[in-house]
Amino acid sequence: MTITALPEIPAGTDDLSIWPASTTRLPHGGLAVGGVSLAEIAERFDTPAYVVDEGEVRERCRTYRAAFPDSPVLYAAKAFLSRAMVRWIRKEGLGLDVCSAGELELAVTAGFPPERIVLHGNAKSPRDIETALRLGVGRIVIDSPAEIARIAASVGPRGHQKVMVRVVPGVSAGGHDKIRTGTEGQKFGLSLTDGGAQHAIAKILGQPQLELTGLHCHIGSQITEVKPYVVALRRMVGLMARVRDAHGIVLPELDMGGGHGIAYRPGEPALDLTALARKLRTELAESCAAARLAVPRLAIEPGRAIAGPAGVALYRVLAVKHTGEKVFVAVDGGMSDNPRPALYGVRYAPRLVGRHSTAGVRTATVVGRHCEAGDVLAADVELPADIHPGDLLAVPVAGAYQLSMASGYNLVGRPPVIAVHEATARLLVRRETLDDFRSRDVGD
Ligand code: LLP
Repeated sequence: MTITALPEIPAGTDDLSIWPASTTRLPHGGLAVGGVSLAEIAERFDTPAYVVDEGEVRERCRTYRAAFPDSPVLYAAKAFLSRAMVRWIRKEGLGLDVCSAGELELAVTAGFPPERIVLHGNAKSPRDIETALRLGVGRIVIDSPAEIARIAASVGPRGHQKVMVRVVPGVSAGGHDKIRTGTEGQKFGLSLTDGGAQHAIAKILGQPQLELTGLHCHIGSQITEVKPYVVALRRMVGLMARVRDAHGIVLPELDMGGGHGIAYRPGEPALDLTALARKLRTELAESCAAARLAVPRLAIEPGRAIAGPAGVALYRVLAVKHTGEKVFVAVDGGMSDNPRPALYGVRYAPRLVGRHSTAGVRTATVVGRHCEAGDVLAADVELPADIHPGDLLAVPVAGAYQLSMASGYNLVGRPPVIAVHEATARLLVRRETLDDFRSRDVGD
């Protein structure tokens, strides 16, 4: 599908600020992303469908590289992973953060250099560790004391593995309770205050086949302020100085994790990447100077901010129901392809595409097709008053933690992923079908 000329019509009141930069308006209410009409994608690939703008992903990678020229930028694969994504991330010179043998193996078999991969996980399975060692990952981030002996034993007496330690810096940040990981009382990391981190560090230093390259922290996700990162960094440098004092070693690396917040609706705040880079650099230089510590190499791990704004979800309206004061617009996807509103109360901004409406707007609630009342995709949003079955709805900022968290609920099947780039659409991941479910169901 190729559209050669995209006649743009003047901007109306509608706001495309959170859409991929390539988004253009087409006549009759159409929208194109990456030069491809969304309505044509829906026709060709059916709905629900996820569209990912390759140019947007790659541009975001470049923005990170420009803001952090001396730091490894590791894309957090949990936000969204496919073989094409692996290739884009590799070509843009980023590293990868993975948290399972599955993510790791997909990346390496798609050609990603294992030494640029970091393995995370609060509960790494024997298979995770075996796969990491077999494929030769760059770093394993230790998240609990029990892992140390297990990894050392798997590495063997003549082996060698670089590791880091995940520390809880005691900073609370993040868009929702479920994604705040910087303080105690949640499952990740080793405590800075109760001696847990120091104890683990001493234990690792006692294992000759493990090389401790540095410390790691990830304070939370969907963070829109720079301040918590600065506070966390200061505390991490403090710990690095204490490690130097206690053991006489200077750790060369400091990984500050990800969590960089984005806008899901026009006008919402996003983390200012340039300010983050500037303040982290300054704070690192100053706290290291104060502690007379050599400045470690800073690494970061953004996931959402790379994949999120590059994705668009496309749904077909199946039913419109007027119930008392409320209007429910039911679509052909829902919580099985996007559990985020149900899990974190996230608000999205769906939009009618492919038809121009003159009917004015009214408040409606976009719901999914799943068998529970909590299957709401977007509560109380403005949509054309004449919205009807057959209409196409597009939800921007759908590229992170939607498909990667998708489920098989109600055997609806996970939607396909279609890449758009330079006016061409191509299938990256096909739709999940009944045959997929049937082939896994091997008993009777
Ligand atoms: N590094 C580590 C160790 C992480 O655990 C995460 C995310 C990241 C980096 C990337 O964070 P990001 O830049 O994408 O915020 N499912 C939730 C988000 C969970 C984040 C888990 N860890 C959501 O849909 O909002």
